[in-house]
Amino acid sequence: MQEKPAKEKQSGGAWSGRFSEPVDELVKRFTASVAFDKRLALFDIQGSLAHAQMLAEVGLLSETDLGNIRLGMERIRGEIESGKFHWSVDQEDVHMNIERRLTELAGDAGKRLHTARSRNDQVATDIRLYLRDAIDRLQDRIRAFQLALLDLAETHAATVMPGFTHLQVAQPVTFGHHLMAYFEMLKRDAGRLSDARKRVNQLPLGSAALAGTGYPIQRERVAALLGFDGICENSLDAVSDRDFAIETANACAMIMIHLSRFSEELILWMSPRYGFIRLADRFCTGSSIMPQKRNPDVPELVRGKTGRVIGHLMGLFTLMKGQPLAYNKDNQEDKEPLFDTVDTVLDSLTLYADMMGGLTVNAEAMRAAAREGFATATDLADYLVKKGLPFRDAHEVVARAVRHAEEQHCDLADLPLETLKQFSDLVGPDVFEVLTLEGSLASRSHIGGTAPQAVRAAIQRAREAFQ
Ligand code: ARG
Repeated sequence: MQEKPAKEKQSGGAWSGRFSEPVDELVKRFTASVAFDKRLALFDIQGSLAHAQMLAEVGLLSETDLGNIRLGMERIRGEIESGKFHWSVDQEDVHMNIERRLTELAGDAGKRLHTARSRNDQVATDIRLYLRDAIDRLQDRIRAFQLALLDLAETHAATVMPGFTHLQVAQPVTFGHHLMAYFEMLKRDAGRLSDARKRVNQLPLGSAALAGTGYPIQRERVAALLGFDGICENSLDAVSDRDFAIETANACAMIMIHLSRFSEELILWMSPRYGFIRLADRFCTGSSIMPQKRNPDVPELVRGKTGRVIGHLMGLFTLMKGQPLAYNKDNQEDKEPLFDTVDTVLDSLTLYADMMGGLTVNAEAMRAAAREGFATATDLADYLVKKGLPFRDAHEVVARAVRHAEEQHCDLADLPLETLKQFSDLVGPDVFEVLTLEGSLASRSHIGGTAPQAVRAAIQRAREAFQ
């Protein structure tokens, strides 16, 4: 004679039949995921509806049951969207909460939905549907940010600034060229997400708990209904591996790395020592004790949040490491880091796109800084090389000229021709064409170079590729 106290029915309702005592309260809270995986609800319903339709098509579910499941799910969707759905920790996770409500609404039809399925392939499907959608949204935001970069780069295709190596003034570049460097990074970021999407978009459903199912299911049909590109070909692998999630998190971490580099630059450029740019007030905050302060909070936070996104990636790697086949509860821990990663990157990209529109440039300060560090010294060396001097000798000549200019507290371009001639008799009056910032920029006109015309061509190519 089997006894089933009412209490047991509540906690672990779907599996309590096997157990002789109720689950400990802390264990219940510790093992439940509903507090966070309820975010998967709409994907869970989407997956369930496709599964139910397939079950009906192969004769495992009656048309009446399918109809009732659809009606029930419609109702549940409405309840969730309006915030009226009652989430219960007694039902452990999003899957069982929805199934319990469906059974209330649709009776036995609700109980039949789980035929030929397990929560293991169900959750793997949900997380893939979630990530596919997340990737598409991330791609949209990357694109919006890239378009904002193109607009700003176009405005500043000829705005001269110092280019740095080792954070020391190296050679003049255009601000447009500098911005287009980030455009390229984002292009690769988008490519990484597209690559990950191919492996995300494979259907695990049909793998059931781990070994597949004895029912005559049609996995291809479910894949087609859900818009998956293909089917996971090994049931043990399908329910257990989360490499597709790690890949996506990696692409996200890379985006944050790139944004953190840009953040660092914006922060430096905004400091009065540089004074290159000004960020719109809406991206800055003041200080509660120092009235003069305008702090670049948004870039600073993006730089800071890069840490947590990289942390989530490390967390996911570590979560997967050493897990034996097949599904283990460890995998329940994939969700919070993934959700937070996607939320953080979406917000950061959105803010960055917006920030480009609110960025004003102090072209005079940029130009003055480019003139300070003998940024055209390489151009003088190249000039001498073109006149026949070996590069190493030219380097030596220019080093001496720079030392002299430094003593005179002036730029190379400010030295009189006669003075420059003293360092090499190859110097002629045409030397000033290369010593000016504009001359230096204009000479680097090949693809990938910083000449305004090369930058405009790069912007043009980028715009065409977007069409
Ligand atoms: N909440 C679980 C997760 O996120 C769903 C799968 C649970 N499967 C199981 N056999 N306990 O991974």
